[in-house]
Amino acid sequence: SRYQRGVRHLCDAGIERIPRKYVFPVSERPDLGTERSDVCYGSSRTLKLPVIDFAQLQGSNRSQVLERLANACEEYGFFQLVNHGIPSEVTEEMGRVGRRFFELPYEERCKYMNPDMRSPVRYGTSFNQNNDQIFCWRDFLKLSCHPLPQHLPSWPSNPPDLREIAANYSLKTKFLYLKLLEVIRESLGVKETAPKSAEDHESNQMARDLENGSQIIMVNCYPACPEPNLTLGLPPHSDYGMLTLLLQDESVRGLQIHHGGRWVTLEQIPNSFVVNVGDHLEIFSNGRFKSVLHRVLVNPSLTRISIASLHTLSFDSTVRPLPKLIDEANPRCYKDTDFASFLHHISSVGHKGKNFLDTRK
Ligand code: SIN
Ligand code: FE2
Repeated sequence: SRYQRGVRHLCDAGIERIPRKYVFPVSERPDLGTERSDVCYGSSRTLKLPVIDFAQLQGSNRSQVLERLANACEEYGFFQLVNHGIPSEVTEEMGRVGRRFFELPYEERCKYMNPDMRSPVRYGTSFNQNNDQIFCWRDFLKLSCHPLPQHLPSWPSNPPDLREIAANYSLKTKFLYLKLLEVIRESLGVKETAPKSAEDHESNQMARDLENGSQIIMVNCYPACPEPNLTLGLPPHSDYGMLTLLLQDESVRGLQIHHGGRWVTLEQIPNSFVVNVGDHLEIFSNGRFKSVLHRVLVNPSLTRISIASLHTLSFDSTVRPLPKLIDEANPRCYKDTDFASFLHHISSVGHKGKNFLDTRK
């Protein structure tokens, strides 16, 4: 259908009302009151996430920062990472090249259109365009990053510098992810020293699996929307993996998380990543860290770009609760799972809310 071509394509035709295909049921629409201003959009209930200063993890405050981090993952499922060591030129140029991709003529973008969810490179629209009854107001470019030499040649050749910029960005964020996960595992009580027990050995094996794990970069584009109160950029969902490192558009907010029983809009901090716990990390932590529902609002006059770097284990390695976190007081709450079963789940039933995690209970 014509909607498969994406929101940008639809907007280029110049519309004043959104087609019915994008109108959410009243109960699922964002509650924005009468608010119509653009930059402050969704600002009636904002939230400052716990800030984790990555540089401080090297200093004498380490144990306090670890505690803060564990707390954030338990209470919010999200935190804001500052002083992360990736130069602002790298993140800024990634944001810019992502934006330029969506500014290309439709004929250029559609070369990468592919309805197959498993395709390593994909320009698409909505959340899952094969299953969605209602379409959400988002176009995306998905880039599989691991192994890079295998995938790079199939990434878009236009804009001409996209491959180089995105490859650099993917390597930097993968490195940061691995360091971050080390810290997160430490905050869960896993030692990174030489293995002394079978359990430590198993855990070190996992560290190797993680290095070979999957990484996907999603460049999200949410075009300005004439009726933002009727639709969403992304419906409520959790992320499937271990961690997502999200680069927010610095001038257009839109990401909301479900916290304290309601939807709150995240405040932005320049030069930072919003990091969130995914389903696999919730399982790995035996339910201690939470993979939290989030959704995206669209803006009446501004196009918003975000870049999500999604990380998890390799396709066929198993995710299971850490034995250390299971005892009488904390019985095992999840079955083993793997990335392959998640992909099977989304292509058969579709990913809605936290329904994948519910199948692992
Ligand atoms: C996502 O949830 O994957 C994207 C969030 C955003 O665009 O801020
Ligand atoms: Fe997400």
